[in-house]
Amino acid sequence: MAKIDWDNLGFNVVETRSMYKARCRQGEPWKSGGLIPYGTIKLSPAAGVLNYGQGCFEGTKAYQTAKDRVVLFRPEMNAKRMVMSTRRLCIPEMNQEFFLQAVEETLKDNIDYVPPYNKGSLYIRPIVWGTSPAIGVRPVEEYTFMVFVSPVGPYFKGGGKPLRLIVSNDYHRAAPKGIGDAKAIGNYSASLYPLTEAKNRGFDEVIYLDAKNEKFVEEVGSANLFALKGNTLITPRLSGSILPGVTRDSIIALAKEKLGLEMLETDVTLTELYDADEVFCTGTAVVVTAVGSITDLDGEHRIADEKMGRLTSKLKEMITGIQHEDIPDEFGWLYPIKE
Ligand code: COI
Repeated sequence: MAKIDWDNLGFNVVETRSMYKARCRQGEPWKSGGLIPYGTIKLSPAAGVLNYGQGCFEGTKAYQTAKDRVVLFRPEMNAKRMVMSTRRLCIPEMNQEFFLQAVEETLKDNIDYVPPYNKGSLYIRPIVWGTSPAIGVRPVEEYTFMVFVSPVGPYFKGGGKPLRLIVSNDYHRAAPKGIGDAKAIGNYSASLYPLTEAKNRGFDEVIYLDAKNEKFVEEVGSANLFALKGNTLITPRLSGSILPGVTRDSIIALAKEKLGLEMLETDVTLTELYDADEVFCTGTAVVVTAVGSITDLDGEHRIADEKMGRLTSKLKEMITGIQHEDIPDEFGWLYPIKE
């Protein structure tokens, strides 16, 4: 194993020992091909995924904990969402046990790539796509499922500094009744151009509005959004074009059940974000990240100074505390890996 600088992990691909592979033909069950060395794969240029975007993925993380063991965080939620995403993309569904077994096998074989306690996590990327050739637009016959992993640190550079976001007026992330609530690869390709434009202008990420009314806030690129005003925490309701995040769901539970906040899943306007005491975004990759300012056509609306707000830090501390077993897992969210 190549030497890894655990103190300077970013959110990048680090090659590891192995990856998991499975195959399936439409109408047949998934068949495991087991673990193979990490590396490039062969693919037809006519593969369904390359031509018509027939692919979806998941993201979950493994942590080295204070109790000196490795745990996953709510991987059953990823398994369920994978079922939902594959169904939407006409990819053969895999049962949740198959998904979890694949994740666990890959993790166990790469367990030495899990960063030491509090130095980061092992990001696990299950991904499934249409492999066989198609020239006409249709679901293909054959599919490949792979799981690869990479040790990661913070998603955003900047040492936890609150994010500078820009509202997209020219682009939508997802259409109503489209595939916005599936973890479809196409949702992420749609975000690349607006993200690149935003980065060129010095912003960290993009806030997308709903495509129908252009009035309600949907997501921040690859993460869900929350805003606190007084004792009320609000987050965009799952309208069909918003990804149902695992971290989003966990933050809602912590806010309601541990912090006694009034928690509303509702339509959220930009004005509510500008008037909020704190705004933050959540996701497996971004964890809980504070939002410092939001720029729209009227200019910059400042929300936080250089520091994370009190509730944002508290929620981050709670969720990462559970993930690293610094505090008890009262919700039964951890999935320990037995070596
Ligand atoms: C995650 O938070 O796991 C995501 O899927 C975001 C990813 C696209 C970086």
